[in-house]
Amino acid sequence: MTLSNTAPIPELYVSHESAQKLKHEAGNLPSWDLTPRQICDLELLMNGGFHPLKGFQSEADYNGTVENMRTADGMLWPIPVTLDVSQAFADKVAPGQDIALRDQEGVILAILSITDKWTPNKANEAEKVFGADDLAHPAVNYLHNVAGPVYLGGPITGIQQPVHYDFRARRDTPNELRAFFRKMGWRRIVAFQTRNPLHRAHQELTFRAAKEAEANLLIHPVVGMTKPGDVDHFTRVRCYEAVLDQYPAATTHLSLLNLAMRMGGPREALWHAIIRKNHGLTHFIVGRDHAGPGKNSQGKDFYDPYAAQELVAKHQKEIGIEMVDFKQMVYVQEKAQYYPVDEVPEGSTVLDISGTELRRRLREGLEIPDWFSFPQVVQELRRTSPPRSKQGFTVFFTGLSGSGKSTIANALMVKLMEMGGRPVTLLDGDVVRKHLSSELGFSKEHRDINIRRIGYVASEITKNGGIAICAPIAPYTATRRAVREMIESFGAFIEVHVATSIEECERRDRKGLYKLAREGKIKEFTGISDPYEAPEKPELRVDTEGTDVDYCAQQVILKLESMGLIKA
Ligand code: PPS
Repeated sequence: MTLSNTAPIPELYVSHESAQKLKHEAGNLPSWDLTPRQICDLELLMNGGFHPLKGFQSEADYNGTVENMRTADGMLWPIPVTLDVSQAFADKVAPGQDIALRDQEGVILAILSITDKWTPNKANEAEKVFGADDLAHPAVNYLHNVAGPVYLGGPITGIQQPVHYDFRARRDTPNELRAFFRKMGWRRIVAFQTRNPLHRAHQELTFRAAKEAEANLLIHPVVGMTKPGDVDHFTRVRCYEAVLDQYPAATTHLSLLNLAMRMGGPREALWHAIIRKNHGLTHFIVGRDHAGPGKNSQGKDFYDPYAAQELVAKHQKEIGIEMVDFKQMVYVQEKAQYYPVDEVPEGSTVLDISGTELRRRLREGLEIPDWFSFPQVVQELRRTSPPRSKQGFTVFFTGLSGSGKSTIANALMVKLMEMGGRPVTLLDGDVVRKHLSSELGFSKEHRDINIRRIGYVASEITKNGGIAICAPIAPYTATRRAVREMIESFGAFIEVHVATSIEECERRDRKGLYKLAREGKIKEFTGISDPYEAPEKPELRVDTEGTDVDYCAQQVILKLESMGLIKA
């Protein structure tokens, strides 16, 4: 990778005329509708952001990446970039065949010439790439519960860029950035990668980095996919734009990167460095816990907070980008200034507000001090995250058939309507099956579709400031988690396990279904002939045996109060 930082980088697009012709011909090919993550990957493959990759990785390149961070021909590439598909689609195609890759509206973006088709060992991929086969890691969860079971690999012929309607002027391909640097005469440019709004600590860090590297500054936030639960990119970009005038316009530029992050810590930091090199950067900031996924299922950090810096340091020469490493920045009260944590003058008072604390203050409408952030940023964040008592939320009951979910859910609905203030919608299991899912049965696949539909409707209600109460059986952990992720980007998700035992449900047998299930007249009946995976850490567990419905609903109300979702 010896390309100079301003010379054009190879792209995978064909000429406009060829694209028109190919698009026409590709109409007859088998086609795959890309997932949001695959669209992000494809965009960076096509525009040179993932140079030297020429398509979705072959099996040999994938194995090399997983095992030792190198493609089959020895190029450094730490994160797998593969096209995962469903078994049904994989069965229809074979190596040697071309397929059309379409966006979610059906527009053909590229052609993949399949060279490889294989079933990956996902547990091994998780262990080697992300350090643990632990579902608490968002990318491991994605790998096992979202990605398809078969990978296709092969070169890409790029037809057109994915369409973006938002912040168009702020999005740059690697070649557009390189041309900009050329035009401006910028030779040394340091990139700051972020998936969070910028506060004063970030500003100080970026100022120092630019000074240290004697370089121009590129604020290069990720707007593709970040960690579930992050501030959405629309809000973040408005925040970045709001603080841009704090930076000298002649030396700083803001550009958006449509990357789908994996939160892969050290390996991801290395990947980010390669991607920045491709975008024409000469320097790259790596701070504390770069691309960290948070805690594992044992409550411990997945990666050492400075492991990313160590790994990038080892490979920076080979990549051809220089790392600017930083310790965490903290505010020193007596000096009214930010310092790296290892340079704090002795005996001084250090102030810091963690991400969790910031979210709490926003949630509860508490003060966010001026030393921490810029008033414009706080105002923007408050606009999208009003205090919890004004946000929408979802209460998601789960439990066996006949456990009492619907009855408690109905009681809760009435109590919330009595309080007023927000519209309340009840998505009861039986009601949903009648109005939304009447064609579905009870196979695992159909139950998943059913729950995802409920999740989708609840997430729309939550986004629009209402209260959704759901009461399906929802027997599978992974599906409940997917629903949680859908909703938590808009408001709180309160999982309530109605923990009535199977014996008690069967004894009650209000609908006479258990009897039929025992007689084999209803197949795949939850708890009898189909599994129920009880939630391990629901926000609340209610026991209906020996307690009345009113008390159970009251417990939910108390929980909502303690979470600040309703005012006492
Ligand atoms: S799921 O798994 O979440 O999609 O199920 P759900 O939509 O909540 O189920 C709604 C009601 O369908 C009745 N029923 C069955 N339940 C479980 N297994 C099988 N095979 C089945 N067949 C019909 C059952 O009465 C559920 O109602 P509730 O309200 O839970 O008692």
